[in-house]
Parts: sequence; C-alpha cells; structure tokens
Amino acid sequence: MSPASVRRRFPAGTGVDQLREYMAPFALRLGYRFNDDEDFVNEVLASEIEILEETGDVYCPCRVRTGDPKEDVKIVCPCIPFYADQFAKLRKCWCGLFIRTDVTDGSELHGVIEVPEGPAEVPVALAEEFPPGTLRTIRVGKREITLARVDGEFFALGNVCRHAFGPLGQGFMDGYMAVCPWHGWRYDVRDGTTDHPDADVRTYETFVREGYVFVTV
Ligand code: SF4
Ligand code: FES
Repeated sequence: MSPASVRRRFPAGTGVDQLREYMAPFALRLGYRFNDDEDFVNEVLASEIEILEETGDVYCPCRVRTGDPKEDVKIVCPCIPFYADQFAKLRKCWCGLFIRTDVTDGSELHGVIEVPEGPAEVPVALAEEFPPGTLRTIRVGKREITLARVDGEFFALGNVCRHAFGPLGQGFMDGYMAVCPWHGWRYDVRDGTTDHPDADVRTYETFVREGYVFVTV
C-alpha cells in the first residue's frame, strides 16, 4: 500500500504530545483514558508516530495491517468504537494504551489477553453531552445502535429501519417514538415496536454510571 493512498490526518512533524492532545478527549467521550503507566504510553505513542511517518496514519502498533484500507481503518488509533464490546470486558484496549475511566490502576493492564465470555457493559456516551429529545447512531463493536434520550431516560435499539433499511439513529424523536429519516416509520424506543407487522427492532438495556451511558450487549 502506498503512503499516498492513506488519508493523512496529521501534519508532518506530529509528535507524541500532539497525539495525546488529539486522542484524550476522543477516548474520554467513550469512557476511556490513557494508561497510568506514562512510560508505556509514551512508548506506544512513539511507535504510532513511526507508523504514521511510514504509512500516513496512526495504525495500531499491536495489530497487523491487512493492506486493505477499508479493513485497516478499524485499527487506526483510537480504535475503541470498533471493538467497544471486547474492550469493555477487558477494561482496556488491546495494547493497553487506553483503559476504562473506572479502572483505578491501569499499570497492570498491558498486553493482549483473552476476552471473557458473556454480555458486555459498554460505555458509549457522556450523559451530559446527550440532550433530552435527541437520538444518534453509536457503534458498539460490529453493531450500529440507535441511542435515544427522553427526559432523563436512555434507550438503545436496533439502528436499521425494517422498511427499507434507513438509519434510524439519524431520524428524530417525537415523545417516545424514534422516527426514521427516510419515510417516517415510527418505533417506540421503550420496546422497539412499530405499527407495521413483524417489523419491530430489538432493544438493549441501558444504564447511567459515573456520568456515562452504558449499553449492555
Ligand atoms: S488497540 Fe489501543 S493502541 Fe491499538 S489502535 Fe486500538 S486504541 Fe490504539
Ligand atoms: S427506511 Fe425507514 S421509513 Fe423507510
């Protein structure tokens, strides 16, 4: 793959400090922060700078690139949205560069370890950044989910409208109804039901902890 084929988001001469500055708020919105082990963080970011200079993007130093830009975009750092369910169980990203904000000491969370079985409680958004009466599409691993807020309650449901596969999370709210942006089918965010037969969408449990909205997948 030629470096020119990769979208360059960082100017030449980007250093570790600029990467930190760019990545920290992005990760925080998803419920993650940099590892407590400063030396380790600097080492990983320095590797990412080398990869940036070689390829034009900050690919993960602990994953193998395939050469297919569509696939490899999933390992551009921070790759948290693409592996949100797995990282939520590990409480860190694969490399350990990022750890969940609720981990008290992340210095032991290095390296890749096996992902435990079972459901994952995934932090997906900061509650205070999600106004009542709105909805949006969020990515949790391979799934796209519609996250909606009505007053103080959060709801999560399938993102694909059953009419013609419209992106429900890009629609709008009318009370407890999420309205599809394409042709206006309406889904009750509390249980995923719609007036159309056999066209309900699935729902996911949500809860708020320490200011973050979590979805259980
Ligand atoms: S695993 Fe960690 S270090 Fe690697 S790309 Fe993802 S967030 Fe970055
Ligand atoms: S695709 Fe959603 S209403 Fe048509």
